[in-house]
Amino acid sequence: MKIRFWLAGVMGLLLSANTVLSANEGDKSVGDLSNIKTIMISRGHTEAAKNCIDCHKDKSPGIVNDWKNSRHSHVGVSCLDCHAVSKDAPNATQHENLADFKVYISALVSPAVCGRCHAKEMEQFNQSGHFRAYHQIIPQDSLHALIRKHEGRDNPELQNAPSETGCMQCHGTKIELDKEGRPTAETWPNAGMGNIYPDGSTGNCAACHTRHVFKISEARKPAACASCHLGPDHPDFEIFENSKHGHVFATDSDDWKWDSPPDAWEPGDYRAPTCATCHMSGIGELTTTHNITERLYWNLWAKESQVRNSDDVLSPLLGNGEKGRELMKTVCSSCHSQKHADNFFLQGDKAVRLYNEEYYKPAQKMLDELNKAGLLKENPWTDEFQIVFYHLWHHEGRRARQGAMMGGPDYAHWHGFFELQQDLYKLEAIYKKRMQNKKIED
Ligand code: HEC
Ligand code: HEC
Ligand code: HEC
Ligand code: HEC
Ligand code: HEC
Ligand code: HEC
Ligand code: HEC
Ligand code: HEC
Repeated sequence: MKIRFWLAGVMGLLLSANTVLSANEGDKSVGDLSNIKTIMISRGHTEAAKNCIDCHKDKSPGIVNDWKNSRHSHVGVSCLDCHAVSKDAPNATQHENLADFKVYISALVSPAVCGRCHAKEMEQFNQSGHFRAYHQIIPQDSLHALIRKHEGRDNPELQNAPSETGCMQCHGTKIELDKEGRPTAETWPNAGMGNIYPDGSTGNCAACHTRHVFKISEARKPAACASCHLGPDHPDFEIFENSKHGHVFATDSDDWKWDSPPDAWEPGDYRAPTCATCHMSGIGELTTTHNITERLYWNLWAKESQVRNSDDVLSPLLGNGEKGRELMKTVCSSCHSQKHADNFFLQGDKAVRLYNEEYYKPAQKMLDELNKAGLLKENPWTDEFQIVFYHLWHHEGRRARQGAMMGGPDYAHWHGFFELQQDLYKLEAIYKKRMQNKKIED
């Protein structure tokens, strides 16, 4: 694998006519030239492409400057390559007051546009849990009720504010267009992961490498994930900071090498792993992947954690747990012994099982019995039992499980199991009272 990479580096970059003509890669042995990448890149821009840069240099210097510092500018990928759309595209617009301005453009740049040149990244993304970030919310009535009815107070004009400024900025939304083909204020700007674009494609490639620099060095740092993976219900960033890996990152990472090519970014360039190292990067025998689900074993965000065993991208159990565990252990083996990794996962799995068996199951059983006895309020957000139950799995339970599986003891314990036992005692007390009195307390 490593040899293939270097050959590709030395022989593959043929600079010649026209933008990227082909980028193909096989998975065969060295000696067979069909697995050597051939990327053809043109230097220099057409008149139309130069126009964009010349004018926007003054109109929006921030954008042009970021672009100038990107790999894209070096290889001749310009504004036009990403922003041009066909005349009949629903989001096609033209600059007003520009005589003989023939090209149609859009502010929206979908994953399908990036995927024209980065097909592999788009395919892997499409098979990952990130793909479903918005799709999975669409059919869930209880979530829409939470957002619009309870958080949005059913206000006819303002009820979508919590979604537009909250959920949507992490999960994404379906981007709608106004009469002129420009994105509406209800749906854009939007930094969410699972946007559905007018061309039908899903995702947001700028979620981790921001426009207009689109750097791998940025996406490799924990901050690139932290804008979404934080807070009371999935404090992955805080857990990382709490871990020994976060300790080494915080004390030592100023002079780590962040821009090595994919599959050649290895320990030595860095001393401790970041989110990307464990979940995405090539390391040792593993190649880089944009499928962040590939290396997972459990489903840790669900009410009850089960081993992943589905290839349906919308399934909560997306992934192959056994394979995922093997891949994740391969990550550890570049820096730790086999025994260290094996024991770490034995410790972590024990915590997940304790949560499943001693917290989730008894709590769910009480919930089911109260439900059967008609002892739950219709509005779950005014019902003390249902509120504590929600916190048990969605907040405390996730913190305990994710803290244990990523080496964050403060989250496994103080924000996790300590709070879990408190939740369970509260649930038991409410349950007992309701069952005895055959009524819901005031
Ligand atoms: C003569 C100046 C000029 C040229 C040439 C020009 N633009 Fe613009 N462009 C503008 C101005 C002015 C705006 C509006 C800026 C604003 O809203 O603040 C704009 C807006 C945009 C937007 C945002 C669109 C939206 O819906 O708000 C994009 C994307 C864009 N330009 C891309 C391009 C591309 C691609 C080209 C080359 C094909 C180009 N521009 C050529 C001046 C220019
Ligand atoms: C590699 C692809 C790519 C290139 C090259 C590119 N853009 Fe963009 N641009 C994007 C993406 C992605 C977005 C975010 C769109 C979205 O939210 O859907 C964007 C958004 C924008 C916006 C609207 C957002 C804002 O902050 O106002 C403008 C204006 C814009 N680009 C102008 C330019 C100009 C000018 C150039 C050339 C100097 C350029 N772009 C080059 C991908 C690109
Ligand atoms: C017209 C083809 C084309 C399009 C469209 C395109 N790219 Fe690229 N991209 C390239 C080429 C070519 C390279 C450079 C490879 C190299 O570094 O030698 C590149 C490099 C990159 C890199 C690596 C940068 C680094 O730090 O080494 C990232 C990340 C990237 N592109 C993301 C995107 C995203 C996101 C989009 C869509 C918003 C996009 N690209 C659209 C052709 C394209
Ligand atoms: C723009 C917000 C955002 C960013 C940035 C982001 N994620 Fe996510 N991530 C999400 C959302 C939303 C989900 C939940 C998807 C769903 O609905 O199942 C998720 C889910 C995941 C999952 C679980 C997938 C599954 O199958 O259950 C992993 C692992 C993950 N992200 C890792 C990362 C890593 C690593 C990074 C940084 C390199 C990152 N994410 C950056 C929003 C983001
Ligand atoms: C700060 C960013 C952020 C906000 C705001 C946010 N989420 Fe999430 N959400 C995530 C991340 C990250 C995950 C993945 C957690 C994991 O894998 O452990 C997630 C997971 C989920 C899941 C479980 C995944 C699945 O496939 O079923 C649902 C459902 C969900 N969020 C709905 C919502 C709704 C509805 C809102 C608004 C009321 C919301 N989220 C607000 C980031 C966010
Ligand atoms: C969850 C965060 C995340 C998202 C979303 C994401 N990337 Fe990346 N991307 C990364 C990371 C991290 C790397 C560097 C991996 C490594 O260490 O080698 C990377 C590397 C790349 C590279 C350079 C790798 C290569 O093989 O040349 C390209 C090109 C790229 N991404 C394009 C895309 C495109 C296109 C999309 C949208 C379909 C996308 N990325 C979405 C995090 C992300
Ligand atoms: C040392 C490697 C490592 C690092 C660093 C790391 N993770 Fe993880 N992550 C794991 C392991 C191991 C699991 C649990 C996998 C399993 O199911 O066995 C996990 C689980 C997750 C999950 C839960 C997925 C689910 O099923 O709900 C998310 C989300 C996540 N990580 C995001 C991140 C983010 C964001 C960062 C950085 C802030 C990060 N991780 C840093 C190894 C790591
Ligand atoms: C790039 C190298 C690297 C990778 C990859 C890596 N670690 Fe580490 N890990 C370290 C370093 C350095 C420390 C700090 C050692 C110390 O505390 O003296 C550490 C510490 C730890 C600790 C704290 C206990 C201890 O021995 O100090 C645990 C647990 C751990 N790693 C688990 C993992 C797991 C599990 C994986 C794979 C999912 C992994 N690590 C991947 C470098 C790495």
